[in-house]
Amino acid sequence: MALTTKSASKPTAGKPAAGKPAAESARPRRYPPSLPALLWHSTVGKKTVLAVSGLIMLAYLVAHLVGNLKIFFGAEEFNDYGHWLRTLGGPVLHYEWALWLIRVVLVAAVVLHGVTAYQLSRRDIAARPVAYVHKRRRTSYATRTMRWGGVILGLFVVWHVLDLTTLTVNENAQSGHPYENTVATFSTWYGNVIYITAMLALGLHLRHGFWSAVQTLGAAGPARARALKAVTDTSALLLTCGFISIPVAVMTGVVN
Ligand code: HEM
Repeated sequence: MALTTKSASKPTAGKPAAGKPAAESARPRRYPPSLPALLWHSTVGKKTVLAVSGLIMLAYLVAHLVGNLKIFFGAEEFNDYGHWLRTLGGPVLHYEWALWLIRVVLVAAVVLHGVTAYQLSRRDIAARPVAYVHKRRRTSYATRTMRWGGVILGLFVVWHVLDLTTLTVNENAQSGHPYENTVATFSTWYGNVIYITAMLALGLHLRHGFWSAVQTLGAAGPARARALKAVTDTSALLLTCGFISIPVAVMTGVVN
């Protein structure tokens, strides 16, 4: 795919151009954009940033799900896992350093993902050769779903951190007891509604996002497309069901 950038002005030669005043030709020299700048301004570069930041968040989600599923093995194992997260990398790394590193990478991935998704959707609209007759139909179904799914997930993560990390909105929460705090969350009707709605939004977002990432990263040749689509759909379904199994387990008393 061709790189599309804003046109950069050609560098001027050192001496004044014929017929131009010396002050005008003495403007600072403009160099061609660097490779990172060229990539950042190109559509293919933005799509790559979108895909790679999405894959970083996906790696976190898979690890988070595996860790969360330990809830089925009881309070001790789940709380030990919470403690391990904080002592990860020790004794070389200080308490919580690795966790903070993960947080910084995740925040950077979230910001880059949101910014590139927004910029690409603006470009998509601007590139339409003919405006739609009905103004409201300016974006595709997939784009609208991804946009709203992304907004719901962003709001969910804020609520989730206030609920299970800072414990601000979690009644009866105790610091250092993630198992009991998770059970407390899913013992309220609104906790279940918020989490299950967000997990369903996550499933739809992942389903479309996986497929887009596969295409952007060039992994989907025509022959493999069907098989890859089945793999991406199944992965999205497994992750969604895995997360939803936790509130369901608390509601049904399997975990209490
Ligand atoms: C049923 C689903 C989920 C459960 C039970 C759950 C559980 C938890 C728990 C217990 C913590 C606190 C860990 C600790 O401080 O020891 C946590 C933190 C976190 N979770 Fe989840 N989680 C779920 C889904 C998700 C999803 C879908 C996302 C992302 C979209 C997510 C993102 C995070 C983040 C960003 C943190 C903060 C990590 C930190 O900075 O300490 N979680 N989760």
